Amino acid sequence: MDATAAGAETVFSPDTDSLAFRRALGSFATGVTIVTAPGPDGPVGITANSFASVSLDPPLVLWSPAKASRRFDYFATAPHFAIHVLGAGDHAICEGFSRAHSAFDALDWSENAHGVPLIHGVAARFECTLEASHDAGDHLIIVGRVTRVAHDPQAPLVFHAGQFGGFAPRG
Ligand SMILES: Cc1cc2nc3c(=O)[nH]c(=O)nc-3n(C[C@H](O)[C@H](O)[C@H](O)COP(=O)(O)O)c2cc1C
Repeated sequence: MDATAAGAETVFSPDTDSLAFRRALGSFATGVTIVTAPGPDGPVGITANSFASVSLDPPLVLWSPAKASRRFDYFATAPHFAIHVLGAGDHAICEGFSRAHSAFDALDWSENAHGVPLIHGVAARFECTLEASHDAGDHLIIVGRVTRVAHDPQAPLVFHAGQFGGFAPRG
């Protein structure tokens, strides 16, 4: 048996134990992104790990804003937005946008032709137009068509079980 096997499986209904459900979902390690869009009073952003690649042809990606978020309206209908994949050194950016939608102060950023804030120096950046949105319980699934990509290969910021860390490739 694998030395890391815990051997302490619990089985439950997500309806009766939502905290345990969240913990189980947290066992799926993800990268971390910042989604940005033009807001009514300036640029807005949000930390999101719900990002996923969807299609190469056409080039589609997705992410999911929570309906309970005070920022939901900024992102639910934005016709243009950008998704930034954070590198290992971008933890402060992640923290900034998990706390506030306007955490651009210390950042190097510019705007594209649609007024979408583009954060510089990240591992990858996908400029998108809204392709579709799908109602999904307490979240909305937003599908973006990627119109422009920036890529600067670097070690990723990783999120797992509520903690941030790095990626250790198999030797
Ligand atoms: C690692 C991480 C991933 C997150 N992923 C998402 C996400 O995919 N969708 C989302 O709506 N909020 C996500 N959040 C929460 C938002 O970043 C933000 O903390 C939340 O919207 C704050 O509430 P407010 O928008 O009401 O101010 C995530 C937060 C963290 C730290």
